[in-house]
Amino acid sequence: MWVRTGENKLIKAGIVGASGYVGGELLRLLVTHKDVEIKVASSKRHKGEKLARIHPDLYGFTDMKFTGESIFDVLDDLDVVFLALPHGTSIKYVPDLVETGVNVIDMSADFRLKDGSKYVRWYGYEHNYPDLLNKFVYGMPELHREELKNTKYIAVPGCIASSSIYSIAPFLNLDLDNNIINVDAKVGSSGSGSEMDESKVFSERYNSIRAYKPVQHRHTPEIEQELKFASGKDVKIALSAHSVNMVRGILTTSNIYAKTDEINAWQLMRQFYDKEKFVRLIMDKKSNFKYPDPKTVIGSNFVDLGFAIDRYINRVVSFGAIDNMIKGASGNAIQSMNIMYGFKENEGLTMPSLFPV
Ligand SMILES: NC(=O)c1ccc[n+]([C@@H]2O[C@H](COP(=O)([O-])OP(=O)(O)OC[C@H]3O[C@@H](n4cnc5c(N)ncnc54)[C@H](OP(=O)(O)O)[C@@H]3O)[C@@H](O)[C@H]2O)c1
Repeated sequence: MWVRTGENKLIKAGIVGASGYVGGELLRLLVTHKDVEIKVASSKRHKGEKLARIHPDLYGFTDMKFTGESIFDVLDDLDVVFLALPHGTSIKYVPDLVETGVNVIDMSADFRLKDGSKYVRWYGYEHNYPDLLNKFVYGMPELHREELKNTKYIAVPGCIASSSIYSIAPFLNLDLDNNIINVDAKVGSSGSGSEMDESKVFSERYNSIRAYKPVQHRHTPEIEQELKFASGKDVKIALSAHSVNMVRGILTTSNIYAKTDEINAWQLMRQFYDKEKFVRLIMDKKSNFKYPDPKTVIGSNFVDLGFAIDRYINRVVSFGAIDNMIKGASGNAIQSMNIMYGFKENEGLTMPSLFPV
């Protein structure tokens, strides 16, 4: 095995829902993390099987097996628990986990919204833990770094939400002609998880561009919440999401109606992201990749940002590209965890993207 556990590791982690796509990405990134030892990876369906049977990228890295036991049986030994569970499921575990004193990093939407009343409309359930919503910090380091240093609880942003927020936030410093921002999202198939249903069968999915959520996308309220946090402005997000013929990756194209020029727009971007390690501004007009493209971020924790200015109707067309399972999930989770524990912020995340993919 490449990786020895236990030696010189500073904290012990457990992952619940470790058989899923996001759980698998957390395992892949944490297995070589200098400061984290993976102690438990739980799965009901795959209890007793080797992790590498379900996540073959882990062959040669770990001999660990999935445990099916309740995470509560092994908590004594853990510093942090990652919940890689569907929304509506994490909320069943979190109140009891918080009682035990363990740190919690939730990958689902259950603790992202500060206004609990919004869960009924967007997620179809009542959220009865307003105090916990206040305790969780939205795990987007570029916006919440200081809060992340002082929390035990992290709600990791949604994937489409991340790409949208990163690419829109700098432009809210402009005088907006319209407070509605249109977001078109194109998402790879891994964005909808590993649970099987008929619409995911290869012959149905391959070669299709499917408008799977043209209205009422659940990430709408968290995008609005975080843009308000970043800019103080109330904007409305008109989000339409399409699944496209990729496995990984998201491209969001957002229309922000405001008058500006290229120089000012670049300045806004540069000022907003200043020395951020994982934000890249794409501006090479001679490249084949003039604008952000998921193809150039796959496998990395980068978000690529760029824009075009439309003088005809005064709009900024702003692009964001991420790997949905890294900067859109496990990468932001680990970056946030690094900040929470005072580790080097980019520990475990310094890989460049794969190219070509
Ligand atoms: N996929 C993405 O790109 C992405 C990006 C950002 C955020 N997220 C969020 O991250 C979470 C995980 O997503 P995913 O894509 O990894 O989903 P997934 O592939 O479907 O995995 C979810 C895992 O949770 C476990 N699970 C399902 N229902 C459960 C239940 N009722 N009780 C306990 N365990 C249950 C399952 O494992 P066992 O049945 O084996 O126990 C399953 O492997 C979701 O909340 C998702 O919205 C996903």
